[in-house]
Amino acid sequence: MSTVVPRSDLAREILHVYGIITWISLGIALLVGAGLAWVLVRFRERPGAGIPAQVRGHSLLEISWTIAPAIVLLVIAIPTIQVIFRTQGQAPRDALEITVRGHQWWWEFQYPSLDVVTANELHVPAGRAVALTLDGPDVIHSFWVPKLGGKRDVVPGRLNRLFFTPTTPDEYRGQCAEFCGVSHANMGMRIVVDAPEAFTRWVAAQKVELPEPAAGPAADGKAIFARSACVGCHTIRGVSSGALGPNLTTFGSRHTLAAGLMPATVDTVAAWIKDPAALKPDAKMPALGLTDEQARAVATYLIGLK
Ligand code: CUA
Repeated sequence: MSTVVPRSDLAREILHVYGIITWISLGIALLVGAGLAWVLVRFRERPGAGIPAQVRGHSLLEISWTIAPAIVLLVIAIPTIQVIFRTQGQAPRDALEITVRGHQWWWEFQYPSLDVVTANELHVPAGRAVALTLDGPDVIHSFWVPKLGGKRDVVPGRLNRLFFTPTTPDEYRGQCAEFCGVSHANMGMRIVVDAPEAFTRWVAAQKVELPEPAAGPAADGKAIFARSACVGCHTIRGVSSGALGPNLTTFGSRHTLAAGLMPATVDTVAAWIKDPAALKPDAKMPALGLTDEQARAVATYLIGLK
């Protein structure tokens, strides 16, 4: 995660302002440092020297040190305000609309125009604007993917907007940037910027009819999932329609588990199902009291959902 490696138009604009402020601050720091050094040498204590001439009520000095910072702030404000207006206007008309919902402690991503819902891993196409609408059902979170742009708060009862055009296909890490409770630090995300064809393939893969799991652990896992409390919170298309937790329809296509906390493998998913709070403090998902074997079966089923 780095703010000085911009991979979107928004991140580049922000870095541009950042650069201006840094250079101006560096210039001022050098001037102040040089002045300080001069004063230290010129007025250092010397044997026999009295106190230097005392200056009080020097109008020219007072006017100068009022006007100089005002000019500095003005010079910084002009490009800053320009960038704010450029990046806060209307998103381009052909932007891909995505609704981002911050939950304690995971991210939900809805693509209303594509009829796709996913969690914690957001796929977007390179070279096309994405317009995010940020909404939150519980407490204030903040959406932040440093290489793609600045933070934007996710505030319950208020819709915030953020748009940018990612430039380079890659996988970018993001993090909730507003303290939102015990597992705030465990609220990561991944943004996968795909080449346009790869994005089209990803969307198609999210919608394919899920195959019936082969007999064995995966089929047992599906049966356990379908008869347990899982269905009350999680949606798997054609199996369950809970809406409190992440949509798991294509869980197996994600690389990580529990908001980017660890790689998604049968072992980690089984450990998570056994005791979520052991891996993520204050996890909202309860332990279901499954045996190791049952948890592994469910994990095998979930990993196969792709
Ligand atoms: Cu969500 Cu911090």
